[in-house]
Amino acid sequence: MTLPGFDAAFREQLDLLLRWRRDVRHFRRDPLPEGTLEALVERACLAPSVGNSQPWRFVAVDSPGCRAAIRAEFEECNAAALAAQPEERQAAYAALKLAGLQEAPVHLAVFCDEQTRTGHGLGRATMPETLRASAMGAVLTLWLAARARGIGVGWVSILRAGRVAAILDVPGSWALTAYLCLGYPEREEETPELDRRGWQGRDPEAGRILRR
Ligand SMILES: Cc1cc2nc3c(=O)[nH]c(=O)nc-3n(C[C@H](O)[C@H](O)[C@H](O)COP(=O)(O)O)c2cc1C
Repeated sequence: MTLPGFDAAFREQLDLLLRWRRDVRHFRRDPLPEGTLEALVERACLAPSVGNSQPWRFVAVDSPGCRAAIRAEFEECNAAALAAQPEERQAAYAALKLAGLQEAPVHLAVFCDEQTRTGHGLGRATMPETLRASAMGAVLTLWLAARARGIGVGWVSILRAGRVAAILDVPGSWALTAYLCLGYPEREEETPELDRRGWQGRDPEAGRILRR
């Protein structure tokens, strides 16, 4: 098999995709086209995984009851997070919109099956955390596949993982990797929202390469 030729125009497009990926909290309410979620999950499954374990598990959170319970969980956790901020940052924190749970047409919870036998433990004896890292890889793959279709993704981590697992009634071996909102963004931005709002800009350490 030969690798399909990825030409300069493709690389330019890929660079644009990476630059414009964005975490989205402001969604339009219109639904995604039929079959989109399935197509995105199929792409997510192309992600690498330790031992080819493919530990990712997906839950589409459609029922009004579950969605309301997740929103309530977020509100409670976000209030606690606000209170835990140093006083001088509390007003800035309170001004941030940190989830689009109300408006996003799709909620997708991604779990990692920590008891999966797939992959026969390869790589996990030395680094068990690689199983969770594999599930994270699926999230990022899905995120990029969504963005390439004009769909925005927002990652919501201001939730207690155990509470989310209980609300969604998933098997005990599933650990929450990511709770995602998906939908069309209200607007496109090239700069992260937390940067634009003065919360956190680029860390100069982030692009440094140490050489040994
Ligand atoms: C593991 C993870 C958890 C995150 N949790 C949240 C969150 O709870 N709320 C939020 O507004 N953004 C969340 N984000 C998005 C980050 O704030 C965002 O990626 C960062 O500010 C950079 O912006 P960008 O993704 O638009 O480049 C999360 C991102 C990651 C990778």
